[in-house]
Amino acid sequence: MVDIKKIISHSKEYGFIFPSSEIYDGLSAVYDYAQNGVLLKNNIREFWWKSMVQMNSDIVGVDASILMHPKTWEASGHVDAFNDPLIDNRDSNKRYRADVLIEDYCEKIEGKINKEIQKAKKNFGADFDQAKFIKTNKRVSDYFNKIDFIKKRLTKLLEDDNLNGLKLLIEELKINCPISGSNNWTDVKQFNLMFDTMVGSSDESSTKIFLRPETAQGIFVNYLNIQKTSRMKIPFGIAQTGKAFRNEIVARQFIFRMREFEQMEMQYFVKPGDQKKWYETWKERRMLWHYSLGFEKENYRFHDHDKLAHYADAATDIQFKFPFGFKELEGIHSRTDFDLGNHEKFSGKKLKYYDIDSDKKYTPYVVETSIGLDRLFLAIISNSLEEEKLDNNSTRTVLKLPKFLAPTKLAILPLLKKDELVKLSKKIKDDLKFDFNLVYDEKDAIGRRYRRQDAIGTPYCITIDHDSLKNETVTIRDRDSMKQDRVKIEEVKKFLNSKIDISIWLKKLSW
Ligand code: GAP
Repeated sequence: MVDIKKIISHSKEYGFIFPSSEIYDGLSAVYDYAQNGVLLKNNIREFWWKSMVQMNSDIVGVDASILMHPKTWEASGHVDAFNDPLIDNRDSNKRYRADVLIEDYCEKIEGKINKEIQKAKKNFGADFDQAKFIKTNKRVSDYFNKIDFIKKRLTKLLEDDNLNGLKLLIEELKINCPISGSNNWTDVKQFNLMFDTMVGSSDESSTKIFLRPETAQGIFVNYLNIQKTSRMKIPFGIAQTGKAFRNEIVARQFIFRMREFEQMEMQYFVKPGDQKKWYETWKERRMLWHYSLGFEKENYRFHDHDKLAHYADAATDIQFKFPFGFKELEGIHSRTDFDLGNHEKFSGKKLKYYDIDSDKKYTPYVVETSIGLDRLFLAIISNSLEEEKLDNNSTRTVLKLPKFLAPTKLAILPLLKKDELVKLSKKIKDDLKFDFNLVYDEKDAIGRRYRRQDAIGTPYCITIDHDSLKNETVTIRDRDSMKQDRVKIEEVKKFLNSKIDISIWLKKLSW
Protein backbone atom coordinates (compact mmCIF):
# COMPACT_ATOMS: atom_id res chain seq x y z
CA MET A 1 0.00 0.00 0.00
CA VAL A 2 1.34 3.46 -0.86
CA ASP A 3 1.83 5.90 2.02
CA ILE A 4 -0.62 8.56 3.10
CA LYS A 5 1.47 11.42 1.65
CA LYS A 6 1.21 9.85 -1.80
CA ILE A 7 -2.55 9.48 -1.39
CA ILE A 8 -2.93 13.13 -0.41
CA SER A 9 -0.83 14.37 -3.31
CA HIS A 10 -2.54 12.06 -5.81
CA SER A 11 -5.97 13.16 -4.59
CA LYS A 12 -5.00 16.76 -5.18
CA GLU A 13 -3.17 16.34 -8.47
CA TYR A 14 -5.98 14.37 -10.09
CA GLY A 15 -8.96 16.39 -8.88
CA PHE A 16 -10.30 14.18 -6.08
CA ILE A 17 -9.84 16.21 -2.88
CA PHE A 18 -8.62 19.74 -2.10
CA PRO A 19 -8.17 21.42 1.28
CA SER A 20 -11.21 23.59 1.96
CA SER A 21 -10.80 27.31 1.13
CA GLU A 22 -7.21 26.64 0.12
CA ILE A 23 -6.63 30.18 -1.18
CA TYR A 24 -6.83 31.24 2.48
CA ASP A 25 -4.40 28.45 3.48
CA GLY A 26 -7.21 25.97 4.18
CA LEU A 27 -9.23 25.19 7.26
CA SER A 28 -7.91 22.42 9.47
CA ALA A 29 -9.68 19.04 9.05
CA VAL A 30 -12.12 20.34 6.42
CA TYR A 31 -11.87 19.21 2.79
CA ASP A 32 -13.64 19.72 -0.56
CA TYR A 33 -14.35 16.98 -3.09
CA ALA A 34 -13.35 18.01 -6.61
CA GLN A 35 -14.56 16.85 -10.04
CA ASN A 36 -13.46 13.21 -9.69
CA GLY A 37 -13.84 13.00 -5.93
CA VAL A 38 -17.51 14.00 -5.99
CA LEU A 39 -18.32 11.30 -8.57
CA LEU A 40 -16.51 8.61 -6.61
CA LYS A 41 -18.16 9.73 -3.38
CA ASN A 42 -21.62 9.71 -5.02
CA ASN A 43 -21.01 6.21 -6.37
CA ILE A 44 -19.95 4.89 -2.95
CA ARG A 45 -23.01 6.47 -1.34
CA GLU A 46 -25.27 5.00 -4.03
CA PHE A 47 -23.89 1.52 -3.41
CA TRP A 48 -24.49 1.80 0.33
CA TRP A 49 -27.99 3.24 -0.19
CA LYS A 50 -29.04 0.61 -2.71
CA SER A 51 -27.65 -2.23 -0.63
CA MET A 52 -29.64 -0.96 2.38
CA VAL A 53 -32.86 0.50 0.99
CA GLN A 54 -33.34 -1.07 -2.45
CA MET A 55 -32.20 -4.57 -1.49
CA ASN A 56 -34.10 -4.88 1.80
CA SER A 57 -37.88 -4.64 1.85
CA ASP A 58 -37.73 -4.03 5.63
CA ILE A 59 -35.57 -0.87 5.35
CA VAL A 60 -36.69 2.58 4.16
CA GLY A 61 -34.83 5.88 3.91
CA VAL A 62 -35.13 9.34 5.43
CA ASP A 63 -33.43 12.69 4.93
CA ALA A 64 -33.70 14.62 8.20
CA SER A 65 -32.43 18.16 8.84
CA ILE A 66 -28.99 18.95 10.15
CA LEU A 67 -30.48 21.44 12.61
CA MET A 68 -32.66 19.89 15.31
CA HIS A 69 -34.44 21.06 18.42
CA PRO A 70 -31.75 21.60 21.12
CA LYS A 71 -33.54 19.23 23.51
CA THR A 72 -32.68 16.41 21.09
CA TRP A 73 -29.07 16.58 22.25
CA GLU A 74 -29.97 16.68 25.93
CA ALA A 75 -32.10 13.58 25.46
CA SER A 76 -29.45 11.77 23.45
CA GLY A 77 -26.82 12.43 26.15
CA HIS A 78 -24.56 14.43 23.84
CA VAL A 79 -24.74 17.64 25.89
CA ASP A 80 -23.46 15.85 28.99
CA ALA A 81 -21.37 13.03 27.63
CA PHE A 82 -20.07 13.72 24.11
CA ASN A 83 -16.65 14.71 25.39
CA ASP A 84 -13.04 13.98 24.67
CA PRO A 85 -10.41 14.03 27.47
CA LEU A 86 -7.78 16.55 26.34
CA ILE A 87 -4.25 17.17 27.57
CA ASP A 88 -1.75 19.88 26.52
CA ASN A 89 2.00 19.67 26.37
CA ARG A 90 3.39 22.85 27.93
CA ASP A 91 6.55 22.88 25.81
CA SER A 92 5.06 22.41 22.34
CA ASN A 93 1.67 23.97 23.21
CA LYS A 94 0.13 21.04 21.31
CA ARG A 95 -3.15 19.51 22.40
CA TYR A 96 -3.83 15.75 22.39
CA ARG A 97 -6.59 13.33 23.31
CA ALA A 98 -5.31 11.64 26.46
CA ASP A 99 -6.90 8.29 25.53
CA VAL A 100 -5.40 8.45 22.00
CA LEU A 101 -1.90 9.04 23.40
CA ILE A 102 -2.30 5.85 25.45
CA GLU A 103 -3.81 3.91 22.53
CA ASP A 104 -0.95 5.02 20.27
CA TYR A 105 1.47 3.75 22.90
CA CYS A 106 -0.25 0.33 22.78
CA GLU A 107 -0.07 0.39 18.99
CA LYS A 108 3.69 0.84 19.19
CA ILE A 109 3.86 -2.33 21.30
CA GLU A 110 1.70 -4.08 18.69
CA GLY A 111 4.26 -2.97 16.11
CA LYS A 112 6.98 -4.69 18.15
CA ILE A 113 4.90 -7.88 18.28
CA ASN A 114 4.52 -7.81 14.50
CA LYS A 115 8.26 -7.38 14.08
CA GLU A 116 8.93 -10.43 16.27
CA ILE A 117 6.44 -12.45 14.21
CA GLN A 118 7.99 -11.39 10.90
CA LYS A 119 11.47 -12.25 12.20
CA ALA A 120 10.34 -15.69 13.36
CA LYS A 121 8.52 -16.29 10.07
CA LYS A 122 11.78 -15.71 8.22
CA ASN A 123 13.76 -17.99 10.55
CA PHE A 124 11.29 -20.90 10.61
CA GLY A 125 10.27 -20.70 6.95
CA ALA A 126 7.46 -23.01 5.83
CA ASP A 127 7.25 -24.71 9.25
CA PHE A 128 6.24 -21.52 11.03
CA ASP A 129 3.19 -21.91 13.26
CA GLN A 130 2.11 -18.37 14.16
CA ALA A 131 -0.46 -19.32 16.81
CA LYS A 132 2.05 -21.54 18.62
CA PHE A 133 4.75 -18.88 18.41
CA ILE A 134 2.47 -16.24 19.95
CA LYS A 135 1.56 -18.60 22.78
CA THR A 136 5.07 -19.77 23.62
CA ASN A 137 7.40 -16.84 22.95
CA LYS A 138 8.07 -15.10 26.28
CA ARG A 139 8.81 -11.66 24.83
CA VAL A 140 5.66 -11.67 22.70
CA SER A 141 3.42 -12.86 25.53
CA ASP A 142 4.92 -10.14 27.81
CA TYR A 143 4.01 -7.55 25.17
CA PHE A 144 0.45 -8.93 24.95
CA ASN A 145 0.08 -8.85 28.73
CA LYS A 146 1.33 -5.30 28.87
CA ILE A 147 -1.20 -4.15 26.23
CA ASP A 148 -3.98 -5.98 28.02
CA PHE A 149 -3.04 -4.42 31.36
CA ILE A 150 -2.87 -0.88 29.93
CA LYS A 151 -6.15 -1.22 28.00
CA LYS A 152 -8.03 -2.51 31.03
CA ARG A 153 -6.75 0.40 33.11
CA LEU A 154 -7.62 2.88 30.36
CA THR A 155 -11.16 1.50 30.08
CA LYS A 156 -11.70 1.74 33.83
CA LEU A 157 -10.32 5.29 33.99
CA LEU A 158 -12.59 6.40 31.13
CA GLU A 159 -15.62 4.68 32.67
CA ASP A 160 -14.95 6.37 36.01
CA ASP A 161 -14.29 9.71 34.31
CA ASN A 162 -11.00 9.67 36.24
CA LEU A 163 -9.13 12.50 34.49
CA ASN A 164 -6.33 12.66 37.05
CA GLY A 165 -5.81 8.91 36.66
CA LEU A 166 -5.40 9.37 32.89
CA LYS A 167 -2.67 11.95 33.45
CA LEU A 168 -0.91 9.66 35.94
CA LEU A 169 -1.04 6.75 33.47
CA ILE A 170 0.50 8.91 30.73
CA GLU A 171 3.29 9.91 33.11
CA GLU A 172 3.79 6.36 34.38
CA LEU A 173 4.15 5.03 30.81
CA LYS A 174 6.61 7.87 30.13
CA ILE A 175 4.66 8.98 27.08
CA ASN A 176 6.30 12.05 25.60
CA CYS A 177 4.92 14.72 23.29
CA PRO A 178 5.80 13.69 19.70
CA ILE A 179 6.67 17.34 18.91
CA SER A 180 8.65 18.59 21.96
CA GLY A 181 9.74 15.17 23.22
CA SER A 182 8.95 16.25 26.80
CA ASN A 183 6.44 14.91 29.32
CA ASN A 184 5.58 18.34 30.68
CA TRP A 185 1.81 17.73 30.63
CA THR A 186 -1.11 19.85 31.89
CA ASP A 187 -4.07 18.30 33.72
CA VAL A 188 -6.63 16.43 31.58
CA LYS A 189 -9.87 18.34 30.83
CA GLN A 190 -13.14 17.26 29.23
CA PHE A 191 -14.05 19.01 25.97
CA ASN A 192 -17.49 18.78 24.30
CA LEU A 193 -17.25 18.03 20.58
CA MET A 194 -20.49 19.64 19.41
CA PHE A 195 -20.46 22.86 17.38
CA ASP A 196 -23.09 25.33 18.43
CA THR A 197 -24.70 28.26 16.67
CA MET A 198 -27.63 30.62 17.21
CA VAL A 199 -31.04 30.69 15.54
CA GLY A 200 -33.22 33.79 15.69
CA SER A 201 -32.93 37.37 14.57
CA SER A 202 -32.21 39.28 17.78
CA ASP A 203 -30.04 38.68 20.83
CA GLU A 204 -33.07 38.32 23.10
CA SER A 205 -35.01 35.88 20.97
CA SER A 206 -32.16 33.76 19.67
CA THR A 207 -31.57 30.25 20.90
CA LYS A 208 -28.43 28.14 21.00
CA ILE A 209 -28.66 25.06 18.82
CA PHE A 210 -26.14 22.44 17.70
CA LEU A 211 -24.93 21.14 14.38
CA ARG A 212 -25.74 17.43 14.56
CA PRO A 213 -22.74 15.30 15.63
CA GLU A 214 -24.41 12.14 14.25
CA THR A 215 -27.25 11.59 11.80
CA ALA A 216 -28.86 8.90 13.98
CA GLN A 217 -31.00 11.28 16.06
CA GLY A 218 -32.85 12.44 12.91
CA ILE A 219 -33.93 8.81 12.52
CA PHE A 220 -35.02 8.38 16.16
CA VAL A 221 -37.23 11.47 16.23
CA ASN A 222 -38.93 10.38 12.97
CA TYR A 223 -39.18 6.66 13.68
CA LEU A 224 -42.85 6.46 14.73
CA ASN A 225 -44.11 8.69 11.91
CA ILE A 226 -42.20 6.57 9.42
CA GLN A 227 -43.37 3.31 10.97
CA LYS A 228 -47.01 4.39 10.86
CA THR A 229 -46.95 5.87 7.36
CA SER A 230 -45.00 2.94 5.88
CA ARG A 231 -47.03 0.41 7.91
CA MET A 232 -43.84 -1.55 8.66
CA LYS A 233 -43.76 -4.11 11.42
CA ILE A 234 -40.86 -4.71 13.76
CA PRO A 235 -38.13 -5.63 12.92
CA PHE A 236 -37.53 -2.83 10.40
CA GLY A 237 -34.83 -0.31 9.59
CA ILE A 238 -34.47 3.34 8.63
CA ALA A 239 -31.41 4.46 6.67
CA GLN A 240 -29.96 7.91 6.21
CA THR A 241 -26.91 9.56 4.71
CA GLY A 242 -25.89 13.11 5.54
CA LYS A 243 -23.47 15.57 7.06
CA ALA A 244 -22.37 15.47 10.70
CA PHE A 245 -20.08 17.89 12.54
CA ARG A 246 -17.60 17.39 15.36
CA ASN A 247 -15.09 19.84 16.74
CA GLU A 248 -12.32 17.25 16.59
CA ILE A 249 -9.17 18.34 18.36
CA VAL A 250 -6.94 15.61 17.10
CA ALA A 251 -7.65 16.36 13.47
CA ARG A 252 -5.11 14.50 11.38
CA GLN A 253 -4.64 11.77 8.81
CA PHE A 254 -6.32 13.62 5.95
CA ILE A 255 -10.03 12.77 5.60
CA PHE A 256 -9.88 10.09 8.31
CA ARG A 257 -10.92 12.50 11.05
CA MET A 258 -12.71 15.62 9.87
CA ARG A 259 -14.72 18.38 11.49
CA GLU A 260 -17.40 18.24 8.78
CA PHE A 261 -18.02 14.78 7.40
CA GLU A 262 -20.73 12.53 6.07
CA GLN A 263 -22.24 9.51 7.77
CA MET A 264 -24.27 6.62 6.37
CA GLU A 265 -26.32 5.19 9.21
CA MET A 266 -29.05 2.61 9.56
CA GLN A 267 -31.09 2.10 12.71
CA TYR A 268 -32.76 -1.30 12.94
CA PHE A 269 -35.72 -1.40 15.35
CA VAL A 270 -36.22 -4.73 17.11
CA LYS A 271 -38.22 -6.33 19.87
CA PRO A 272 -36.60 -5.97 23.35
CA GLY A 273 -34.66 -9.17 23.98
CA ASP A 274 -33.92 -9.72 20.26
CA GLN A 275 -31.14 -7.14 20.11
CA LYS A 276 -28.26 -9.59 20.58
CA LYS A 277 -29.43 -11.73 17.65
CA TRP A 278 -29.81 -8.71 15.35
CA TYR A 279 -26.50 -7.25 16.51
CA GLU A 280 -24.74 -10.47 15.42
CA THR A 281 -26.71 -10.52 12.14
CA TRP A 282 -25.76 -6.95 11.23
CA LYS A 283 -22.14 -7.53 12.20
CA GLU A 284 -22.02 -10.38 9.72
CA ARG A 285 -23.92 -8.53 6.97
CA ARG A 286 -21.77 -5.44 7.20
CA MET A 287 -18.57 -7.45 7.00
CA LEU A 288 -19.92 -9.23 3.89
CA TRP A 289 -20.73 -5.84 2.42
CA HIS A 290 -17.11 -4.75 2.85
CA TYR A 291 -15.80 -8.00 1.40
CA SER A 292 -18.05 -7.52 -1.64
CA LEU A 293 -15.86 -4.59 -2.73
CA GLY A 294 -13.17 -7.13 -3.54
CA PHE A 295 -10.22 -5.97 -1.41
CA GLU A 296 -8.30 -8.58 0.56
CA LYS A 297 -10.17 -9.94 3.57
CA GLU A 298 -7.04 -9.55 5.71
CA ASN A 299 -7.59 -5.79 5.52
CA TYR A 300 -10.65 -6.01 7.78
CA ARG A 301 -11.12 -7.09 11.38
CA PHE A 302 -13.62 -6.66 14.20
CA HIS A 303 -12.60 -4.77 17.29
CA ASP A 304 -15.08 -5.11 20.16
CA HIS A 305 -15.34 -2.07 22.40
CA ASP A 306 -14.00 -2.34 25.95
CA LYS A 307 -15.54 0.97 26.93
CA LEU A 308 -19.16 1.23 25.77
CA ALA A 309 -20.70 4.56 24.74
CA HIS A 310 -23.39 5.90 27.05
CA TYR A 311 -26.15 4.40 24.90
CA ALA A 312 -24.83 0.89 24.11
CA ASP A 313 -25.02 -2.64 25.57
CA ALA A 314 -22.67 -4.06 22.91
CA ALA A 315 -20.49 -2.41 20.28
CA THR A 316 -17.86 -3.34 17.75
CA ASP A 317 -15.84 -1.56 15.10
CA ILE A 318 -15.04 -2.90 11.70
CA GLN A 319 -11.44 -1.82 11.46
CA PHE A 320 -9.66 -1.39 8.16
CA LYS A 321 -5.96 -1.49 7.41
CA PHE A 322 -5.35 2.14 6.45
CA PRO A 323 -1.84 3.27 5.41
CA PHE A 324 -1.32 4.26 9.08
CA GLY A 325 -2.52 0.94 10.51
CA PHE A 326 -5.79 -0.75 11.53
CA LYS A 327 -8.37 1.91 12.48
CA GLU A 328 -12.14 2.15 12.85
CA LEU A 329 -14.03 2.27 9.58
CA GLU A 330 -17.55 1.45 10.74
CA GLY A 331 -19.32 1.08 14.08
CA ILE A 332 -22.03 -1.46 14.88
CA HIS A 333 -23.83 -0.66 18.10
CA SER A 334 -26.61 -2.23 20.07
CA ARG A 335 -28.13 1.02 21.37
CA THR A 336 -30.85 -0.54 23.59
CA ASP A 337 -33.95 1.65 24.10
CA PHE A 338 -31.78 4.47 25.41
CA ASP A 339 -32.50 7.01 22.66
CA LEU A 340 -36.20 6.34 22.16
CA GLY A 341 -36.78 6.08 25.92
CA ASN A 342 -35.08 9.42 26.52
CA HIS A 343 -36.85 11.17 23.64
CA GLU A 344 -40.11 9.99 25.14
CA LYS A 345 -39.08 11.47 28.51
CA PHE A 346 -37.74 14.77 27.19
CA SER A 347 -40.49 15.43 24.63
CA GLY A 348 -43.39 14.16 26.72
CA LYS A 349 -44.70 12.43 23.55
CA LYS A 350 -45.62 8.74 23.41
CA LEU A 351 -43.11 6.92 21.23
CA LYS A 352 -44.10 3.32 21.95
CA TYR A 353 -44.62 0.85 19.14
CA TYR A 354 -47.89 -1.05 19.06
CA ASP A 355 -47.28 -4.73 18.32
CA ILE A 356 -50.46 -5.94 16.69
CA ASP A 357 -49.54 -9.64 17.04
CA SER A 358 -49.11 -9.55 20.83
CA ASP A 359 -51.48 -6.59 21.37
CA LYS A 360 -48.73 -4.95 23.47
CA LYS A 361 -46.96 -1.60 23.37
CA TYR A 362 -43.24 -1.32 23.92
CA THR A 363 -40.20 0.85 23.23
CA PRO A 364 -38.17 -0.89 20.53
CA TYR A 365 -34.49 -1.67 20.97
CA VAL A 366 -32.15 -0.46 18.25
CA VAL A 367 -29.18 -1.98 16.45
CA GLU A 368 -27.24 0.61 14.49
CA THR A 369 -24.74 0.38 11.66
CA SER A 370 -22.78 3.60 11.19
CA ILE A 371 -20.06 4.31 8.67
CA GLY A 372 -18.28 7.50 7.66
CA LEU A 373 -18.51 8.06 3.91
CA ASP A 374 -15.26 10.03 3.84
CA ARG A 375 -13.46 7.36 5.85
CA LEU A 376 -14.74 4.71 3.44
CA PHE A 377 -13.58 6.88 0.53
CA LEU A 378 -10.10 6.95 2.10
CA ALA A 379 -10.15 3.18 2.64
CA ILE A 380 -11.12 2.57 -0.99
CA ILE A 381 -8.69 5.01 -2.54
CA SER A 382 -5.76 3.90 -0.38
CA ASN A 383 -6.38 0.27 -1.28
CA SER A 384 -6.74 1.04 -4.97
CA LEU A 385 -3.76 3.28 -5.61
CA GLU A 386 -0.75 1.39 -6.96
CA GLU A 387 2.64 2.21 -8.36
CA GLU A 388 2.88 -0.72 -10.73
CA LYS A 389 6.16 -1.96 -12.21
CA LEU A 390 5.74 -2.82 -15.89
CA ASP A 391 7.64 -5.37 -18.00
CA ASN A 392 9.69 -2.65 -19.71
CA ASN A 393 10.93 -1.49 -16.27
CA SER A 394 8.83 1.65 -16.29
CA THR A 395 6.13 2.27 -13.68
CA ARG A 396 2.56 3.40 -14.02
CA THR A 397 0.32 4.98 -11.40
CA VAL A 398 -3.01 3.22 -11.49
CA LEU A 399 -6.11 3.56 -9.34
CA LYS A 400 -7.59 0.06 -9.31
CA LEU A 401 -10.97 1.09 -7.94
CA PRO A 402 -13.79 -1.45 -7.90
CA LYS A 403 -14.90 -0.80 -11.48
CA PHE A 404 -18.51 0.12 -10.73
CA LEU A 405 -17.33 2.88 -8.37
CA ALA A 406 -14.99 4.59 -10.83
CA PRO A 407 -15.81 8.29 -11.37
CA THR A 408 -15.47 7.94 -15.15
CA LYS A 409 -16.47 4.61 -16.59
CA LEU A 410 -14.88 4.96 -19.99
CA ALA A 411 -12.69 7.16 -22.12
CA ILE A 412 -13.27 7.49 -25.86
CA LEU A 413 -9.99 8.00 -27.68
CA PRO A 414 -9.51 8.42 -31.43
CA LEU A 415 -6.09 6.90 -32.18
CA LEU A 416 -5.17 9.92 -34.29
CA LYS A 417 -6.69 13.36 -34.64
CA LYS A 418 -7.94 12.61 -38.18
CA ASP A 419 -11.35 13.86 -39.31
CA GLU A 420 -12.92 10.44 -39.99
CA LEU A 421 -11.66 8.97 -36.70
CA VAL A 422 -12.76 12.02 -34.71
CA LYS A 423 -16.19 11.93 -36.35
CA LEU A 424 -16.78 8.25 -35.54
CA SER A 425 -15.42 8.72 -31.99
CA LYS A 426 -17.80 11.59 -31.31
CA LYS A 427 -20.70 9.56 -32.62
CA ILE A 428 -19.83 6.69 -30.25
CA LYS A 429 -19.50 9.18 -27.39
CA ASP A 430 -22.93 10.68 -28.17
CA ASP A 431 -24.51 7.21 -28.25
CA LEU A 432 -22.98 6.06 -24.95
CA LYS A 433 -23.23 9.23 -22.85
CA PHE A 434 -26.82 8.42 -21.82
CA ASP A 435 -25.65 5.24 -20.11
CA PHE A 436 -22.16 5.96 -18.80
CA ASN A 437 -20.20 8.80 -17.30
CA LEU A 438 -17.49 9.12 -19.94
CA VAL A 439 -14.80 11.43 -21.32
CA TYR A 440 -13.62 12.13 -24.84
CA ASP A 441 -9.91 12.82 -25.22
CA GLU A 442 -7.97 13.46 -28.44
CA LYS A 443 -4.93 15.30 -26.99
CA ASP A 444 -1.42 13.74 -26.79
CA ALA A 445 -0.11 10.33 -27.80
CA ILE A 446 -2.36 7.36 -27.00
CA GLY A 447 0.03 6.04 -24.29
CA ARG A 448 -0.16 9.28 -22.33
CA ARG A 449 -3.92 9.32 -22.65
CA TYR A 450 -4.10 5.77 -21.21
CA ARG A 451 -1.92 6.85 -18.27
CA ARG A 452 -4.19 9.82 -17.52
CA GLN A 453 -7.18 7.49 -17.33
CA ASP A 454 -5.26 4.90 -15.25
CA ALA A 455 -4.50 7.60 -12.68
CA ILE A 456 -8.18 8.44 -12.14
CA GLY A 457 -9.29 4.81 -12.22
CA THR A 458 -11.20 4.72 -15.54
CA PRO A 459 -11.81 0.99 -16.06
CA TYR A 460 -12.10 1.01 -19.86
CA CYS A 461 -10.58 2.99 -22.73
CA ILE A 462 -12.18 2.67 -26.15
CA THR A 463 -9.83 3.37 -29.02
CA ILE A 464 -11.07 4.15 -32.52
CA ASP A 465 -8.56 3.33 -35.25
CA HIS A 466 -8.52 2.77 -39.01
CA ASP A 467 -9.95 -0.74 -38.67
CA SER A 468 -12.92 0.82 -36.91
CA LEU A 469 -13.79 2.58 -40.16
CA LYS A 470 -13.50 -0.63 -42.13
CA ASN A 471 -15.25 -3.17 -39.92
CA GLU A 472 -17.17 -1.19 -37.28
CA THR A 473 -15.12 -2.45 -34.36
CA VAL A 474 -13.15 -0.69 -31.60
CA THR A 475 -10.56 -1.84 -29.10
CA ILE A 476 -11.49 -1.83 -25.43
CA ARG A 477 -8.52 -1.65 -23.07
CA ASP A 478 -8.91 -3.01 -19.55
CA ARG A 479 -7.35 -0.72 -16.89
CA ASP A 480 -6.03 -3.55 -14.71
CA SER A 481 -4.70 -6.08 -17.22
CA MET A 482 -4.01 -3.48 -19.96
CA LYS A 483 -5.26 -6.14 -22.40
CA GLN A 484 -7.26 -5.00 -25.41
CA ASP A 485 -10.34 -6.69 -26.84
CA ARG A 486 -11.68 -5.99 -30.27
CA VAL A 487 -15.44 -5.48 -29.97
CA LYS A 488 -18.17 -4.63 -32.47
CA ILE A 489 -19.36 -1.05 -31.93
CA GLU A 490 -22.95 -2.22 -31.51
CA GLU A 491 -21.81 -4.62 -28.75
CA VAL A 492 -19.88 -2.04 -26.68
CA LYS A 493 -22.75 -1.11 -24.37
CA LYS A 494 -23.51 -4.75 -23.59
CA PHE A 495 -19.81 -5.47 -23.01
CA LEU A 496 -19.50 -2.58 -20.55
CA ASN A 497 -22.71 -3.40 -18.70
CA SER A 498 -21.51 -6.95 -18.19
CA LYS A 499 -18.41 -5.59 -16.43
CA ILE A 500 -19.37 -2.48 -14.49
CA ASP A 501 -23.06 -2.51 -13.72
CA ILE A 502 -23.73 -1.96 -10.01
CA SER A 503 -26.13 -4.93 -9.98
CA ILE A 504 -23.13 -7.30 -10.32
CA TRP A 505 -21.93 -6.12 -6.89
CA LEU A 506 -25.42 -5.91 -5.37
CA LYS A 507 -26.00 -9.55 -6.33
CA LYS A 508 -23.10 -10.57 -4.06
CA LEU A 509 -25.21 -9.37 -1.13
CA SER A 510 -28.06 -11.79 -0.95
CA TRP A 511 -29.39 -12.71 2.48
N1 GAP B 1 -24.29 7.15 15.44
C1 GAP B 1 -23.16 6.50 15.98
C2 GAP B 1 -21.91 7.19 15.71
O1 GAP B 1 -21.90 8.33 15.26
P1 GAP B 1 -19.32 6.91 15.83
O2 GAP B 1 -18.51 5.67 16.08
O3 GAP B 1 -19.02 8.12 16.63
O4 GAP B 1 -20.82 6.46 16.01
C3 GAP B 1 -19.58 6.36 13.30
O5 GAP B 1 -19.20 7.28 14.30
C4 GAP B 1 -18.65 6.44 12.10
O6 GAP B 1 -18.58 7.78 11.62
C5 GAP B 1 -17.21 6.07 12.40
O7 GAP B 1 -17.02 4.67 12.33
C6 GAP B 1 -16.45 6.79 11.30
O8 GAP B 1 -16.47 6.04 10.10
C7 GAP B 1 -17.29 8.03 11.10
N2 GAP B 1 -16.70 9.19 11.79
C8 GAP B 1 -16.84 9.51 13.10
N3 GAP B 1 -16.18 10.65 13.38
C9 GAP B 1 -15.60 11.05 12.22
C10 GAP B 1 -14.79 12.16 11.84
N4 GAP B 1 -14.46 13.10 12.72
N5 GAP B 1 -14.37 12.25 10.55
C11 GAP B 1 -14.72 11.31 9.64
N6 GAP B 1 -15.49 10.25 9.94
C12 GAP B 1 -15.93 10.11 11.20
